[in-house]
Amino acid sequence: MKIAVVGTGYVGLVSGACFAEMGLNVTCVDIDEAKIEGLKQGVIPIYEPGLKSIVIRNYDAGRLQFTTDLPSVLNDMEMVFIAVGTPSDESGNAEMKYVWEVTDTIGNHIEKPLLIVTKSTVPVGTSHQIKERVQQRLDQRGLGSLQFDVASNPEFLKEGAAVDDFMSPDRVVVGVESERARELMTRLYRPFLLNNFRVIFMDILSAEMTKYASNAMLATRISFMNDIANLCERVGADVNMVRRGIGSDSRIGKNFLYPGCGYGGSCFPKDVKAIIKVAEKVGYEMRVLKAVEQVNENQKRVLFQKFMTFFNGDVAGKSVAVWGLSFKPETDDVRDAPALQLIRSLLEVKVNVRAYDPAAMDEARKQLHDTIYYAKDIYDAANNADALIVPTEWKEFRLPNWEILKKIMRTHVIIDGRNIYNKEDLTAYGFEYRGIGL
Ligand code: UDX
Repeated sequence: MKIAVVGTGYVGLVSGACFAEMGLNVTCVDIDEAKIEGLKQGVIPIYEPGLKSIVIRNYDAGRLQFTTDLPSVLNDMEMVFIAVGTPSDESGNAEMKYVWEVTDTIGNHIEKPLLIVTKSTVPVGTSHQIKERVQQRLDQRGLGSLQFDVASNPEFLKEGAAVDDFMSPDRVVVGVESERARELMTRLYRPFLLNNFRVIFMDILSAEMTKYASNAMLATRISFMNDIANLCERVGADVNMVRRGIGSDSRIGKNFLYPGCGYGGSCFPKDVKAIIKVAEKVGYEMRVLKAVEQVNENQKRVLFQKFMTFFNGDVAGKSVAVWGLSFKPETDDVRDAPALQLIRSLLEVKVNVRAYDPAAMDEARKQLHDTIYYAKDIYDAANNADALIVPTEWKEFRLPNWEILKKIMRTHVIIDGRNIYNKEDLTAYGFEYRGIGL
């Protein structure tokens, strides 16, 4: 089976590499020539554990190709996956121009039967629009009777665990409208799910909706827990105990109940916005999700507020260590990262910021430039600091040498945005500790 994957971002590159790892012949396509040239040399544009070795191995074995020229490979393929970005536009709608560019290229060059699969997260109805656009092009070219199909196959992988998630998914959701599409998608995914075939086939609109609903549900759990955490603080309860108490009810479950300094990344913020917009277009208001967004916006300010409260607003000229810049550990992605918002607020009140992140310093520098000090390690960041703030729970932050920190910090305040430290331990070491919901 030969397939093309268009778009070499997170979803496209991981999907392409993992399909090749399963033995398929995969061509990854992108309009960015530098990126494609880099990939041929084994330069991976994103930080993702395990991805580099899979890309290099499959490229060397000839199962994975890279090109900028979709038309020249299109008619060799049985399937084309559209995995280009759909970022939020200014008003929160999914930006669809890249999807339409690919659609039109396919419509202008297709000469043989093809299955066009949407993997990007797209508004409900997009796959049908793709079908119409391609059909229009075919009609114009006098090829109106050419057989082609569309399918929706949303991707649920998480950054930082993308390869594992892709290779052993909890489930695969596939929206199809023809037997041919169903048969091709079954062939494609059987090797991933040999012992337990968890492909859920459904209609295309439901598959598109499933992706949004899934991310919206997860974001809702987080905002719900952040609201509960803020209330815990005010009534004197411990959110860690509350979380364990509710998570052990199997109807609720224990995952994705961790309060923190807000969700970020390339998916939750944009998808929650997009589903609200999808609903507006059909005259429906997503009231719960509007609240989810609002709670998250507030939560991204919580670390800054705790810092200001501790020092009674008297912060100008103080120095703060920030451990963690990415929106979560194991990634260099700083899109919508709570840490960056925190740093901007600190800079506004004339605080000196000394930041450290194991992977995301270069990405953060693209946005923050030289407004902060980029430290060599956690201790360099904490040197002479008046407070240490931790917005991201990287493993290497979890067990620092508190004796050293006690010596090198000027004032001993720890503001823990992910509840990774034990309040009693830190108090015993002589630190003032502030967590979330404790
Ligand atoms: C998410 C979805 O999990 C994935 O299925 C979808 O395909 C893309 O969006 P990702 O953005 O990579 O994946 O990150 P995820 O691990 O889900 O975390 C998202 C955000 O939620 C992070 O900022 C994280 O810190 C936060 N989070 C997560 C919490 O605050 N509490 C939790 O309990 C879990």
